[in-house]
Amino acid sequence: MADAATPRSTRRTFLGWGMAIIITSLTVSGILPILVFLWPPPPKGQTKGPLTIALDTPIDQLSDGQAVKFTAPASPNSAFIMADGGGDNAPGDLAFGGFVVMNQGKVQVLAINCSHLGCSVALNEGAKSFDCPCHGSRFHIDGTVLRGPAAYPLSHLTWKQGQDASTIEVDGLTLGF
Ligand code: FES
Repeated sequence: MADAATPRSTRRTFLGWGMAIIITSLTVSGILPILVFLWPPPPKGQTKGPLTIALDTPIDQLSDGQAVKFTAPASPNSAFIMADGGGDNAPGDLAFGGFVVMNQGKVQVLAINCSHLGCSVALNEGAKSFDCPCHGSRFHIDGTVLRGPAAYPLSHLTWKQGQDASTIEVDGLTLGF
């Protein structure tokens, strides 16, 4: 009697384990991508720290109302970190370019991103403004809004002068890719 039941019971046990393994595998393979999406692993190789930027025009040679554009280093790929912002920009957001501006004797450093939807603004030297090519927003040289649809000023970047007037150090992130 026991001999007759053993093969059937063994087959049932084997099928049970097989089904359990298949169901577990399907569940894990279905849930794993969701978990990775919700809790992504930390990006490899990212380091926060000041980025050294060489300016085309030294700070001490900027005249009032003048601005000089700069971009984040591409090798390794880097970005600046916005210190503040409104609209499409927010503190901690990344910018891949900016402007050093001399305004009423004060130097300020602005991110290039339009606060409307993030397009790169261009310096309008004649009008001493920053103009956005996407939807026509314009900003004063100090970053405040001159014309919408942007409703918020350009973001500032945190910076300090480097070893000479041709160099600035801007808070940023080396992206590592
Ligand atoms: S993104 Fe600049 S005006 Fe829309």
